[in-house]
Amino acid sequence: MTSTASKESVNRNVLVIGAGLHGLITARVLFHDSNHFFDSVIVFEKNSTLGGVWSSNRIYEGLITNSPLRTYEIPDFQYPVGMRSSAAHVSAQDVNRYLQDYAEYYSLTKLIRYQTRVDEIYWDRVGSVWTVKGVSATGDFQRNFSHVVICTGLYHTSFNPLTVSQTTQYAGNIYHSSEMGNPGVRSILANSERVVISGAGKSALDLATILAKGHWRTKDRKAMLVTLVYRRPHWLSPRKIIRGTVPFEKLLFSRFVNSWLPFAKHPDLFHWMIAETRFGRWVTGFISDIITDDFVKSLNQQDLPQTIPKYPLARASSGALHVEPSGYIDCVRSGKIKIVEGTIDSMVGKKVYVKVNGERPDAFDADNVLLATGYVLAFPFFSDETVRILGLLAPEDSTEDKTDLPYIRLHRLAAPPGTIHEQNAEGIDGKGPCRNIAFNGFAYSLLGPTVAHVTAHWISDYFAGAIHLPDQQSVEQGIMA
Ligand SMILES: Cc1cc2nc3c(=O)[nH]c(=O)nc-3n(C[C@H](O)[C@H](O)[C@H](O)COP(=O)(O)OP(=O)(O)OC[C@H]3O[C@@H](n4cnc5c(N)ncnc54)[C@H](O)[C@@H]3O)c2cc1C
Ligand SMILES: NC(=O)c1ccc[n+]([C@@H]2O[C@H](COP(=O)([O-])OP(=O)(O)OC[C@H]3O[C@@H](n4cnc5c(N)ncnc54)[C@H](OP(=O)(O)O)[C@@H]3O)[C@@H](O)[C@H]2O)c1
Repeated sequence: MTSTASKESVNRNVLVIGAGLHGLITARVLFHDSNHFFDSVIVFEKNSTLGGVWSSNRIYEGLITNSPLRTYEIPDFQYPVGMRSSAAHVSAQDVNRYLQDYAEYYSLTKLIRYQTRVDEIYWDRVGSVWTVKGVSATGDFQRNFSHVVICTGLYHTSFNPLTVSQTTQYAGNIYHSSEMGNPGVRSILANSERVVISGAGKSALDLATILAKGHWRTKDRKAMLVTLVYRRPHWLSPRKIIRGTVPFEKLLFSRFVNSWLPFAKHPDLFHWMIAETRFGRWVTGFISDIITDDFVKSLNQQDLPQTIPKYPLARASSGALHVEPSGYIDCVRSGKIKIVEGTIDSMVGKKVYVKVNGERPDAFDADNVLLATGYVLAFPFFSDETVRILGLLAPEDSTEDKTDLPYIRLHRLAAPPGTIHEQNAEGIDGKGPCRNIAFNGFAYSLLGPTVAHVTAHWISDYFAGAIHLPDQQSVEQGIMA
């Protein structure tokens, strides 16, 4: 896979990196809806199959979407009619099938190069192209592209908070939640008698519940005890509210609730009033208290204070509010899941030592340990220089470690601010990258596929020069807002 800059630079060829939800939607829009702006669209995917977090080698039995079906649907591609009318949440297998169908329907499968990992992307000033290097099934490659869209997602680089010295004396296995697509790993965990899970996010609670309920178990063994170790609990939403009678999404997506949600900038007098006046804040707080009380009662958490967060429900951002895994609260109540508020200190033999309130660590038996400690935001293919040219980090936030970025700065959550205007791109000579690189999939939303679809259209118009863009100062101010 080698080619010369001179040939490719006369063409408009766009590379989409990643064939997850965002990569597929972006490829579909650039391929079909960009008025033939591009001569070619190609997708590089390091996995052997499409779907990203929903790919067949990553999902597992028991995983269902946190989002209700109609909020996790691509605007121009509906789920089958039967599913739309019944299912509130979608099984991972169905999401996988849906994305496969989407790719086939829009002829995207022929655009995807599997087992093609991008290791390096840099701007070639001489050829005015993006040079992309990596490894494919047939060996190393280097190719040039006029445009690139990064769709590598937020959840592909797992985070392990434990150091080697904390784990070296441990006699069991240590896994990360991202490995649950591996049937061997699932089997080892499921057939353990004692498992310690670290984390309080959706992965931790989902997997604690699956294991405690004995799913995946193939051997006839004593019931499992799951010890869930976390720093603090997070808010859970019930499937049904008002004492468990009305589906939660009916309230969440109602005009009433949406009108009380905060905005970065007050769009009208009403939102200014509820955010900025004492009376407005009192009313908002009153409504929030009623909903909080109902959440706790609908979930039946009253007698389980260890599951109730100490911070207000209103502070749970959309990304942090997860639906209760079916049976989680019951498992805690029955003792199948034991909650320990603390952090893992060390691991020796088949014991995990957990520090609670800074006290001397308590020991817990663990045949195996599962880290559900989340992911880091990583762009290992960008050099420091490229991160700087793109303007992804504020100068004061520059970090040495590109494998764990705190956040990234993007105009409209899509365009790197350093490449929007020529005079601001690296090199005032106009040889820097300009309006030819974008990101899709780095925003949190309750309507992920819809935002992905809209963003892909925005990127398409942005590349084609069909969007009026604010000056650099306004771009910077917008990012800070
Ligand atoms: C278990 C789980 C459940 C979730 N459930 C929900 C939910 O219910 N609702 C919701 O809104 N969100 C959910 N999310 C968030 C989810 O990540 C997004 O909704 C969405 O699927 C992300 O799609 P993506 O394309 O951005 O990323 P991904 O799905 O991660 O796809 C990125 C792709 O890029 C590829 N890639 C990465 N680096 C490279 C490279 N260097 N070279 C080539 N290819 C590369 C990866 O292999 C991957 O296929 C969930 C996340 C997880 C982990
Ligand atoms: N069914 C579903 O839809 C589903 C299933 C799984 C995941 N997801 C999605 O996937 C994304 C990732 O979820 P996730 O649960 O894997 O990760 P996550 O939400 O980032 O949660 C990570 C957990 O690890 C803890 N943690 C992080 N660093 C730690 C440290 N140094 N020591 C101890 N604990 C530490 C965090 O603690 P603190 O809370 O104290 O920070 C948090 O509880 C989310 O967007 C989620 O919605 C969805």
